[in-house]
Amino acid sequence: MSANESAPNSISSNPRLEDKVSIVTGAGSGSGAGILSKFLSEGCRGLIWDHNPNPVPLSSLLAGQVQIFTADVSDPSSWPLALPTCLPTFDKFDILTNNAGVVHVANPNEDVPEEEVDRVLRVNVKPLYFSAGTVVPYWSRKGEGGVVLNLSSTSAPRPRLRLATRGLAPEVAPVLGDVDTPEGRAIALVEIPIGRICTPKILGDAACFLASDEAALLTVNFDGGRSLM
Ligand SMILES: NC(=O)c1ccc[n+]([C@@H]2O[C@H](COP(=O)([O-])OP(=O)(O)OC[C@H]3O[C@@H](n4cnc5c(N)ncnc54)[C@H](O)[C@@H]3O)[C@@H](O)[C@H]2O)c1
Repeated sequence: MSANESAPNSISSNPRLEDKVSIVTGAGSGSGAGILSKFLSEGCRGLIWDHNPNPVPLSSLLAGQVQIFTADVSDPSSWPLALPTCLPTFDKFDILTNNAGVVHVANPNEDVPEEEVDRVLRVNVKPLYFSAGTVVPYWSRKGEGGVVLNLSSTSAPRPRLRLATRGLAPEVAPVLGDVDTPEGRAIALVEIPIGRICTPKILGDAACFLASDEAALLTVNFDGGRSLM
């Protein structure tokens, strides 16, 4: 994501997330930066959580709206520190976006080293469990609800037979992820009926709606119809 794309120009005249406070994990780049940028432009404040101590241009965002929290989401000792970091500055907490994630090169299961599986589960899955232990007791104590947005992949809810086939041919680029190439994008586009690849801005817009009070009972995939195929 470029500096221009991630920096909000101004706060919307009718902000959807006014007075909300969010923690966005992996907000230092990519989708997380897109989501955080949109949240800020809609009046939200909160924590940039990333294990990279120098997140991309987000540190120069609107003064007073964000604070950087440098920690590893896969480390259980990080989670008890998240709200004690957020609350003294922002005094409340409403929205958790579990976005930080890693991928491994697309390969059939039997060719993926066990340490890669462990790494993906540790960073992508275990934090969902850790986060519940952090945010649910807080919201319960306050007697209010909150919003948890969990980012995943369209690969998660359905078998990816074509991915497996692709992985069997090492000369073919894997889909977006560790290696993002024009060839990989062209392959991914074949599977997306709407014919566009998701961007951090599109994710930010979608996440903003889902985090707003307007979407209280909604769950949905933003995937250009991919999950319908
Ligand atoms: N890029 C894709 O093609 C794609 C497709 C489907 C789903 N996703 C999911 O979207 C999410 C974001 O992906 P992205 O493409 O923006 O990736 P990215 O690599 O651009 O950004 C991920 C961010 O998370 C941070 N991060 C990684 N591990 C961390 C950890 N242990 N603790 C704290 N921060 C950590 C990184 O420093 C980085 O800033 C991930 O959950 C990913 O699985 C991505």
